[in-house]
Amino acid sequence: MKERMVSGIKPSGQLHLGTYIGALKNFAAVQDEYEMIAFIANLHCITVPQEPAELKKNLRDCVALYLACGLDPQKCTIFLQTDVPEHAQLGFIVCCHTYLGELNRMTQFKDKQVHGEKNLSGGLYTYPTLMAADILLYSPTFVPVGEDQKQHVELCRDVAIRMNNRYGKIFTVPEPRIAKVGARIMSLSDPTKKMSKSDGINKGCIYLLDTLKDARKKIMSATTDSLGVVRYDPENQPGISNLIQILSSLSDDRPFADIEKEFEGKGYGEFKRAVADAVCAKLEEIQARYNEIINSDLIDKTLAEGAEKARIIARQKVSEVQHAIGMEIVDR
Ligand code: TRP
Repeated sequence: MKERMVSGIKPSGQLHLGTYIGALKNFAAVQDEYEMIAFIANLHCITVPQEPAELKKNLRDCVALYLACGLDPQKCTIFLQTDVPEHAQLGFIVCCHTYLGELNRMTQFKDKQVHGEKNLSGGLYTYPTLMAADILLYSPTFVPVGEDQKQHVELCRDVAIRMNNRYGKIFTVPEPRIAKVGARIMSLSDPTKKMSKSDGINKGCIYLLDTLKDARKKIMSATTDSLGVVRYDPENQPGISNLIQILSSLSDDRPFADIEKEFEGKGYGEFKRAVADAVCAKLEEIQARYNEIINSDLIDKTLAEGAEKARIIARQKVSEVQHAIGMEIVDR
């Protein structure tokens, strides 16, 4: 039997190059080897305020882009989180087994608090418990995530172990798996921060649906340094190192040393042009497929079939958990 992996993508904005390199590209590469369960985390999206029309568009785009990036619905179960209501149901149960102290330690929530954001929701606070449920429903061997989500997977493991100790072995304890190269693509304008949609006026973030012209412009104006050598040295040359990483990921994980050699003695302008060419070629390929998919019935069909498959597994797990806890009055 193939090992199973589960991953959620939260398209609270448009998908960008960081998501492609850090997640989507890897999913497409491993779907033959693993049983892949990939869902669109639309419940997680609403932990922060969303504009309805925009959210709807982002969700649809997200499915189209999953498919355009090479995920094959024959091999991989793709669905919308709310089409499998067991996510919210197990989410509440997991929440009831999580301590406030644990949630208080979650850096993602703390960061928002520290930045003085007002009116943070209860859903944002309990976000990691829903994510734990997303994972535990499907008993995966591992969970591919970016570095920023590692703490959430660790919480998931802690709560799974706690519940197993209390109720018997109801959950498989999953391993986080952090992709080495490309797990963390940084902002082009501030390469000490992760590439994200909250990137000022978006100069630092390349969206998968950006025009090629915009994408090229963003690469060409990426922040570099005054050292003038193309070398992978994230500490002293974060901007250049980020561009090396992007170029490497988009050219079959070409070794960094290879790239350094090619651009030895050459200027940043020439190097950036090469990165921009690689990025534009990839965007062009993804967008061509996206355009075919976005108005076809493939999206609805994929989601309906995916949800049906996922629900069989999820329903079984929730029933097992509720029985173990003593919440059900009819024997299994
Ligand atoms: N929290 C993840 C993110 O922000 C998205 C997510 C939700 C997820 N549920 C998940 C990832 C379950 C992996 C497994 O990117």
